[in-house]
Amino acid sequence: MGRTVIKAGTVVTATETMGADVLVDGEKVVALAAPGSHDWESGAERVIDASGKYVLPGGIDVHTHMELPFGGTFASDNFETGTRAAAWGGTTTIIDFAVQTKGGSAMEGYESWREKADGNVAIDYGLHMITGDINEQTLKEMDVLVDEGVTSFKLFMAYPGVFYSDDGEILLAMQKAAENGSTICMHAENGIAIDVYVEQALKRGQTDPLYHGLVRKALLEGEAAHRAIVLAELTGAPLYIVHTSAKEAVNEVIQARDRGLNVFAETCPQYLFFDLDDLGNGFEGAKYVCSPPMRDRAAGHQDALWQGLRTNDLQVVSTDHCPFCFNDHPELGRQKRLGDEDFSKIPNGMPGVEPRMEVLFDGGVNQGLIGVNRFVEITATTPAKMFGLHPQKGTIAVGSDADIVIFDPNEKHVISVDNQHMRVDYSAYEGLEVTGKVKCVLTRGRIIVENGEYLGNPGDGRYLKRDTNQYLI
Ligand code: URP
Ligand code: ZN
Ligand code: ZN
Repeated sequence: MGRTVIKAGTVVTATETMGADVLVDGEKVVALAAPGSHDWESGAERVIDASGKYVLPGGIDVHTHMELPFGGTFASDNFETGTRAAAWGGTTTIIDFAVQTKGGSAMEGYESWREKADGNVAIDYGLHMITGDINEQTLKEMDVLVDEGVTSFKLFMAYPGVFYSDDGEILLAMQKAAENGSTICMHAENGIAIDVYVEQALKRGQTDPLYHGLVRKALLEGEAAHRAIVLAELTGAPLYIVHTSAKEAVNEVIQARDRGLNVFAETCPQYLFFDLDDLGNGFEGAKYVCSPPMRDRAAGHQDALWQGLRTNDLQVVSTDHCPFCFNDHPELGRQKRLGDEDFSKIPNGMPGVEPRMEVLFDGGVNQGLIGVNRFVEITATTPAKMFGLHPQKGTIAVGSDADIVIFDPNEKHVISVDNQHMRVDYSAYEGLEVTGKVKCVLTRGRIIVENGEYLGNPGDGRYLKRDTNQYLI
């Protein structure tokens, strides 16, 4: 692969906004220079005119679930369809969650996720491991997995009987993480208490999706976050709270960080843009069923999330991409409609890997809630550092992988299921007009999306053996 020049754009990183030409040689960025100051074009194979556009590091989505088994079905995107859609949306790296099921081995989970992904992914990918069965064997396997580049493990305080770990199991896994340098990713919701509320609601005949939001109480997210933080403090394990949605949880994170603990947290676009009302439109609300749920806007949860993003009490915006079709699918069968008569049977999760960058740019940067450098920081640079991929990923610098997005900050377009590419039959953002559009995407120097056309191939992406959390040094 020869040289590519990206000329006359505005390069945006977490710390700089600068007019610059970017020279890519093979898979790497090899130079940046003042616009027009070097004659790189004559020897170049490709010249991309980025005038009037932003030149951004490719997005990194550290929370996806391709083909996740859940609630009697599977997330509808596989690695091929999901990573291609990610590329269309300006994301050039994902970190997906491999699964160890109850009674199964974590290594087998890892190997099976590698099999699903290798040869199919459009973009580079890493893996976390959902450790769904903490026992002696799993604790040993956690060391082996760290050597394989799986340096983070997700535990669930929710979903009793499925992925759930009790406090003793969490303590053991955290002790191991403190020892081997890995990070514990926590789904912080008190699943035992929530299940009591679920049963009581169903007994009262409250079966609509809205009740999913009402029984999964914000206080129970805050309580679980608090408990996870206490266990992390006792053990010394780094803790990363995933998909934070409640202000109570944000407050726990703020207090922990103020005390100097290695506690980090992400939120997701759905919690920044949707609320309890989106769950309330009859069975349509099933499109928005995920856990934790959408929260009551008037109670200030969204404000707390935006403030947390501004103050760095929240460090990352990932998607928790876990799509399920609303209507029955010819191959996948019943998905959201499994919960037609019982909200607790609706598979939890939403599509999001494709629109993340554009909706966050529009709803965050254009609305004046975050700056463009902070946008890059929370969508690319911090995710890379948090999960051991920086500076190979997450920035535009000499020596970094040429994962680059050419982004038009002024182009208006309307998001719809008709123009999205995820393997799912609805868009949560249907009809939303946004300003800002991904125009061209390079992964390791190769153009894979240009003017709405996908130019890549399954298997273009590679497995990333990750380092440990780079905020701990
Ligand atoms: O509703 C969600 N979040 N589904 C995916 C699994 C998880 O808890 O992250
Ligand atoms: Zn979760
Ligand atoms: Zn998730």
